[in-house]
Amino acid sequence: MERFLEDIKKFGKLRVIEEPLDVNLEIPHVAYIEVKKEDSKVLLFKNPIDKKENRKFNIPVVMNIFANFEITNFILGKHPQKIAKEIQELLEPKTPNSLKEKINTLLTFSKLRKIFPKRTKKRGICQQVIYQGKQVNLDNLPILKTWPKDAGKFITTGQVYTKSLDGKKYNLGLYRIQKLSKNKFIMHWQIHKDGAHFFHEYKKANKKMPVSIAIGGDPLYYWCGQAPLPNGIFELLLYGFIRKQNPTLVKSITNDIYIPYDVDIVIEGYVDPNEFAIEGPFGDHTGYYTPPEEFPVLTVSAITMKKNPYFTATVVGKPPLEDKYMGWATERIFLPLLKTTTPDLIDYHMPENGCFHNLLIAKILPRYKGHSKQIMHALWGVGQMSFLKHAIFVDENAPDLTDYENLTKYILNRLTEKSFLITEGIVDQLDHASYEPLVGGKLGIDATGSTVEKTIKVLSDKQLLEKAKKLDNNILQLKQYFTDTANPITIIKVRKTKPVKQIFNKLKQLKQFLKIVIFVDDYMNDLNNPYMLIWRITNNVDALYDVWIEEIWGVDATSKSNIDGYNREWPEDTHCDKNVIEDLIKKGIINVDKKFLRKYQIIEEEDDEANPKY
Ligand SMILES: Cc1cc2nc3c(=O)[nH]c(=O)nc-3n(C[C@H](O)[C@H](O)[C@H](O)COP(=O)(O)O)c2cc1C
Repeated sequence: MERFLEDIKKFGKLRVIEEPLDVNLEIPHVAYIEVKKEDSKVLLFKNPIDKKENRKFNIPVVMNIFANFEITNFILGKHPQKIAKEIQELLEPKTPNSLKEKINTLLTFSKLRKIFPKRTKKRGICQQVIYQGKQVNLDNLPILKTWPKDAGKFITTGQVYTKSLDGKKYNLGLYRIQKLSKNKFIMHWQIHKDGAHFFHEYKKANKKMPVSIAIGGDPLYYWCGQAPLPNGIFELLLYGFIRKQNPTLVKSITNDIYIPYDVDIVIEGYVDPNEFAIEGPFGDHTGYYTPPEEFPVLTVSAITMKKNPYFTATVVGKPPLEDKYMGWATERIFLPLLKTTTPDLIDYHMPENGCFHNLLIAKILPRYKGHSKQIMHALWGVGQMSFLKHAIFVDENAPDLTDYENLTKYILNRLTEKSFLITEGIVDQLDHASYEPLVGGKLGIDATGSTVEKTIKVLSDKQLLEKAKKLDNNILQLKQYFTDTANPITIIKVRKTKPVKQIFNKLKQLKQFLKIVIFVDDYMNDLNNPYMLIWRITNNVDALYDVWIEEIWGVDATSKSNIDGYNREWPEDTHCDKNVIEDLIKKGIINVDKKFLRKYQIIEEEDDEANPKY
């Protein structure tokens, strides 16, 4: 980590904050705001404190490591597209013709020797200082409390190293870890993840599971932890592949888990398969709090570290955040791997304001009728891609997948009733929209066909609102988007006192003026802010219940409750503490105006009907 910080400093991309700041909210709020800026920087908090506990930490905190595209490229050592090309070449080896090609093929394969982790018997740099048994005290680490309603302090960039019960498989996963006491954590490995799969093996055998959590070191370790590699493939192989250098591992002091020798801090311990605790709530990367749920407990047996370690952390919440850049690299690097199951996939894109698994746009080469739908089913069955809720397919003539304006027009000009496929599948454990946990609706949209005729007459927003209000006075505002296409989108803000389907049914009377209607609540929804609307809408929809393809097409993206037949607890949005933000602005630590705070819905503001902000 030290070397990374030195390099980043040379590029002028490091911001050092000397001011003592609180690990409770202050430090994470600064990072949350920084990463939303155009040219955000890596942050080094030199003097973390805990005001409540009256504690000073002597370990600095580094945040916003994947601060922008440039730094992400720097960490990877090259553009992710180049890494994807190397993977593609490996997957499709060509028969070498010339001597030069033969030598190149040999070189490629000889470089593969570098991907395998190697073990050293020497002490790791991460073991220069060792605390064991009674010396273990997690209070000495500057662990952050990110959000006002978080259950406590969480490690957010912990590289969790585990191995299968038979010792044949190794795993590195990035999971948040909630501090429970001076020597206990709760492990939030979700049910679909490899850490959880290993845990279930130990639980069945009623054996304690060794776990080591590494913090810091080469930031690429951290990125590899979130890479969605299939079960059984150790993420450090990807590290070796990208770095062209064998990762060097050292045995933990008190268990037999191997960790990279050069990380900053290691927390070692055991998970007792019979010890569980309630984890959360935690403000998550969906921008909502995930509700409390039971997860296994880790008892810490040792903490080891470098002499001068850095503690690293990230903030997850409403987009854009650090995972925008991490996710971009993952998206590019995994394209050739995804193509192995869907060869006619040309490209795909998962915008960060669709929280990755909530929205995917794919460009394909359609060869026959139903081809898009075939690929939809394939994606919904591939590893973590199966969490995907909404997938839109276009053909090879469509604009670039990041040219959102023209791409949306292209899509809207090709939709008919037959374009939609609604089915059921697994959803991310964090998904709150599904009417039951873990399974929910999937919406696939096939926009690969030819253009269609416009059948509706476009009114002004004002005229349309007047007509709509006459049908239902719960309709408060509306805004039309893409009125120059065959299927304009009308976003309607409603005061929700009954199921939205009732309002939708009344609106069918306006079918000559409406095609796609999307309903949102009158809370923190600015109809002029499509970036955050996409975030909200894709989060809040379970296509099985909330998408209606009838005379007009409706989407209910409001929050749900028992009036909708939704019997889970609808989670709250993540918001920064207003007083902390105001104080940080006063101190000159952050420098943003109201417009910026509103653009990304950073603090909660009540909507005022007479003068709506949202
Ligand atoms: C910042 C960040 C935090 C994450 N937190 C969690 C988490 O708490 N639990 C979880 O299961 N996955 C979490 N993930 C996603 C996993 O890291 C990701 O799905 C990874 O591929 C899991 O690896 P595995 O399948 O080897 O377990 C997080 C990802 C990021 C980028």
